[in-house]
Amino acid sequence: MKRCPSLVDAGRRSFLTGAGLATAGAAVASVLPAQAKATPSVALVRYPANRLANVKDLKINAPLEVSYPDADAPGVLLKLGTPVPGGAGPDGDIVGFTTVCPHKGFPLSYRTADKTLNCPGHYSRFDCEKGGQQIWGQATQNLPQYALRVDAKGDIYAEGVDELLYGRLSNVL
Ligand code: FES
Repeated sequence: MKRCPSLVDAGRRSFLTGAGLATAGAAVASVLPAQAKATPSVALVRYPANRLANVKDLKINAPLEVSYPDADAPGVLLKLGTPVPGGAGPDGDIVGFTTVCPHKGFPLSYRTADKTLNCPGHYSRFDCEKGGQQIWGQATQNLPQYALRVDAKGDIYAEGVDELLYGRLSNVL
């Protein structure tokens, strides 16, 4: 059967007109979801605020041992030297994390060369410049990060943690 070439041409022309583009745009808009908006972590739990240090106590890329939310929960404060997501302080570069591995609770150590916290147990690694994101190993969650606030005097307060701390059944004291 012979096809009519003018019907094909008419179809292409009408698609390239405004009506054709409007129809295509409406079809795309109905398929794509609305733009996602960043929201605070739903896992963030507010603990009582606790002063951990002052900005003057921190040196760039030198870990400062702390405990939060209680004395049985070792952690670290870090001034990373460049602004990072979730970073506090005048330079947006102060972060805090638990130093108990979320896999099986081994103590983590800080590696200055790549600003990671590393586990000797099963070699999980966590990126301190990316909110404690796990970048290697057997843990199944990112490293719990402190919610920090720095006041006008430079005192650094932790006010919550954004993941479940290892060994705890809930983020409740
Ligand atoms: Fe850290 Fe297993 S305890 S990876």
